[in-house]
Amino acid sequence: MTGASRGIGRAIALKLAQDGNHVVLVARSQGGLETVAAEITASGGSAECHACDLADCTAYAALVEQISEKHGRLDILVNNAGITKDGLAMRMSDEDFDAVINVNLKSVFVGCRAALRPMMRARFGRIINIGSISGITGNAGQANYAAAKAALAGLSKTLAKEMGAKSITCNVVAPGFIETDMTEALGEKIKEQILPSIPLRRLGKPDDIAATVAFLASDSAGYLTGQVIVVDGGLSC
Ligand code: NAI
Repeated sequence: MTGASRGIGRAIALKLAQDGNHVVLVARSQGGLETVAAEITASGGSAECHACDLADCTAYAALVEQISEKHGRLDILVNNAGITKDGLAMRMSDEDFDAVINVNLKSVFVGCRAALRPMMRARFGRIINIGSISGITGNAGQANYAAAKAALAGLSKTLAKEMGAKSITCNVVAPGFIETDMTEALGEKIKEQILPSIPLRRLGKPDDIAATVAFLASDSAGYLTGQVIVVDGGLSC
């Protein structure tokens, strides 16, 4: 799973490990990954770390292949890593648009493509892509991010249709506002302004997202594919 060094990714990694999976942690920083891996092993789980910059899609695809060859299988792929480079559309540079599309969308496509072969061989697979409420409602200042996250729905529904006959499911989990480094940048004032529009009157926690991902990865979700599951405390309802 990607983006496992902190925030939502860390919570997903801990939960999947707790559920008995060997978890392969991928992110840019080896140091952050090793801390999460140590947490997993300290609580009796099993994990390994691989530093990889997903902006290099070729390197990420090669890593997915290498991991599945090493283990002879790849049961669950969680594409969680994501970046923002916000700015109003009229002032957004091509570089900022491309950088976000590359990490938040293209890397997800190449990761899924590399995972499909071992999953097809096993006639089993669970692909879970982390989208965002921004991809459903749009969000001022996030033309690049919202476009990439919206595209994950089209990609995942397509994979669900192409791969369903092989018992490979593909879904999107779309978080609302979750307390992580990404939302820390918003500042307290903006967070207070957001709260009244969230029916559950709190920001989400990484564990809220991890619980949904773990469900989608579990046997209980075997008949659930091609869906976008919004986990936002009711913000978009
Ligand atoms: P975060 O910024 O706390 O962590 C991002 C993770 O992705 C880190 O592990 C980082 O190393 C990794 N990453 C980023 N760029 C990378 C790259 N080029 N190569 C390899 N790894 C890279 O983010 P957070 O908040 O935990 O978000 C996780 C996912 O959830 C993202 O896809 C984000 O878009 C999505 N999301 C988050 C929301 C929030 O409120 N925090 C709301 C909606 C969606």
